Amino acid sequence: MGQIVAGVLAPHPPHLVYAENPPQNEPRSECGWEVLRWGYESLRESLSQIDYDVLVVQSPHWRTYVGTHFLGVPELKSKSVDPIFPNLFRYNYDLKVEVPLAEQICSRAAELGLVTKMMRNPDFRVDYGTIVSTHMLQPGWEKPIVGISSIGAASYYGMDVMQELMQKLGQATKEVIEASDLKVVLVASHSLSHRHFVKEAEVPEDMSREHIEHHGQYLWDMKMIELMKAGDSKALFDIIPDFTEQTVGETESGGLSWMLSAMDFPTVPAKVHAYGTVIGTGNAIVEWRPKEWRPSKLRPQTSVPSKHEDVSGSKA
Ligand SMILES: [Fe+2]
Repeated sequence: MGQIVAGVLAPHPPHLVYAENPPQNEPRSECGWEVLRWGYESLRESLSQIDYDVLVVQSPHWRTYVGTHFLGVPELKSKSVDPIFPNLFRYNYDLKVEVPLAEQICSRAAELGLVTKMMRNPDFRVDYGTIVSTHMLQPGWEKPIVGISSIGAASYYGMDVMQELMQKLGQATKEVIEASDLKVVLVASHSLSHRHFVKEAEVPEDMSREHIEHHGQYLWDMKMIELMKAGDSKALFDIIPDFTEQTVGETESGGLSWMLSAMDFPTVPAKVHAYGTVIGTGNAIVEWRPKEWRPSKLRPQTSVPSKHEDVSGSKA
């Protein structure tokens, strides 16, 4: 019987790949963002101890205007260039897609009322969010992926609509995986708070320039992480709209909402491998093992930051 063996929050700043200097990426760095890169190292070590067949990745940077799309080509190979940071990320990728699983999730989501489509263009260029998160999880690209787009429902309609749609997409993902014979790791590819600097340092990896963009968004990030560590997925899901509004959060893409729903809102505590900033944004590397870890006895200690807290002093 198929199973979701883990779910991970895996942020995709291209800076992390840049700082790793892998052979696939052209620019070279001296160092940078070590806490986050060591967090990914810890997560890779953790995932290496479990048996899994495929990564299912939802990315904010594959933004589809009509419906949720799924990669539907068995092999995709090209160069990905970050449109904002071409100086940091020019990455040659060569990946495999688990097309049958993608087709089944696509069909089941449609049955549940979502607009869905398989992407069949063999020359399609895979977005850098999918590539960065997958690279940081498996630099050798050993496992195939399922790639899911972000419909952008939060922007077009509102966060409540996005939450509802992602709940259904999560349900479809769960049902199909459990009916398959595959062991799957889910990947929500995004940062938490997303206010960021608008000027790059002369040396991008100069860590004397790196810090959270605004204290208010840091407090919100800590609230989200506290709920993850407490295993309170329902409260975490419910707070996502306010969090997103107050921090310009990349949760706007729906990845975390989808993943929590697909894992049936786990009550086990998540393992936080790292938290750190990239150009001022808040990034957490987090792992859920919905079937293995014991329920948490932790309870949230701090209050939810006020909706009216002034974070307007900074502009992303
Ligand atoms: Fe992003």
